[in-house]
Amino acid sequence: MIFGISNYQPSKSGHPTADDRQLLADKIVNIKSKLINLIFLVKIGNIELPDLPLFLAPMEDVSDEVFRYVCKNYGSDVVYTEFVSSEALIRKVKKSEKKLIVHDYERPIGIQIYGNRTEAMAEAAKLVNEANPDFIDLNFGCPVRKIVMKGSGAGLLKDIPKMVEITRNVVKAVNLPVTVKTRLGWDENHKNIVETAEKLQDVGIKAITIHGRKHNPKICIPVIGNGDIDNPVKARQAFEFYKVDGIMIGRASIGNPFIFREIRHYLDTGKLLPPPSVQQQAEDLKELLIKSIKNKGERIGILCMRRHMAHSFKGLPDFRELRICMLRTENFIELTDILNRISYKYLGYTMN
Ligand SMILES: Cc1cc2nc3c(=O)[nH]c(=O)nc-3n(C[C@H](O)[C@H](O)[C@H](O)COP(=O)(O)O)c2cc1C
Repeated sequence: MIFGISNYQPSKSGHPTADDRQLLADKIVNIKSKLINLIFLVKIGNIELPDLPLFLAPMEDVSDEVFRYVCKNYGSDVVYTEFVSSEALIRKVKKSEKKLIVHDYERPIGIQIYGNRTEAMAEAAKLVNEANPDFIDLNFGCPVRKIVMKGSGAGLLKDIPKMVEITRNVVKAVNLPVTVKTRLGWDENHKNIVETAEKLQDVGIKAITIHGRKHNPKICIPVIGNGDIDNPVKARQAFEFYKVDGIMIGRASIGNPFIFREIRHYLDTGKLLPPPSVQQQAEDLKELLIKSIKNKGERIGILCMRRHMAHSFKGLPDFRELRICMLRTENFIELTDILNRISYKYLGYTMN
């Protein structure tokens, strides 16, 4: 049996109906795409990725090991750490070193670093290499002022030769695959990603994530599309229209890690899953909360949860007071109680 084609049964009359023909056509399309995927498996170096892979974006103060765990459970195929400063790593700053801790269950995982000095980036990459993630990602896209002012992140889009030099030296310094996350260009008038991606490919990167979309037939490494993908339909469009090899989800996962399951289900079946119930979202938050407290202690664990909670339970009627209580408390028992009250009050509601 090839990919289930022997399941095909003609109608009782023996003549195929329109539905039968549609079913058969769907199966042929399915077989074709599976064969294509077998031949053109998406790979980052030697890391084989599943069909239409979904990436959790690196996000400072969000994509910590607790959130990565939850997103992974909901079907994110590849995850990243928050970005880590190369300068802090070589100065052995404890908080930054802690960000290098990765677990086998989260593989494949990339550790992302940023910086502006070539030697510091290569040195930091060696330290990252020792932490043994699956790949090392270089941040050439962060637009935050304090990063850009130091010529790091998106600041390097103003100095492509330097960006390429840093990348070349990092690739030479480590034995793990190196990837890059960047933007179309510094601004509307300098969209040079086509040439930049080629230069980065030439010095050995194994995948590139681009915030924004642009096609370049000379790029053979996987291109991961990122930016504003916040529902399953947009996810499919990114694969179909922009021909990306993977998609990366950032903000839409905050408070809603369920989005990975929704997208995967839609990509596999073409059907939308019903939105999660309020109970489901409350249970997700409780799981995240318990892990967060275990990892960081009660106070910090709860503070770290606030960003997720602020994005949860959107659109519920008469929710203001509960939201304020939920975002104010620093006590685990009280917070669990509030989440239980939310579940109870909004029994039967779903999140839209
Ligand atoms: C809170 C927050 C923190 C972020 N931190 C990082 C980071 O550490 N490294 C990085 O490359 N991008 C970072 N980004 C950018 C995201 O990875 C992503 O490129 C951006 O949010 C666009 O994708 P989205 O529209 O799916 O959110 C951050 C974004 C947010 C919202």
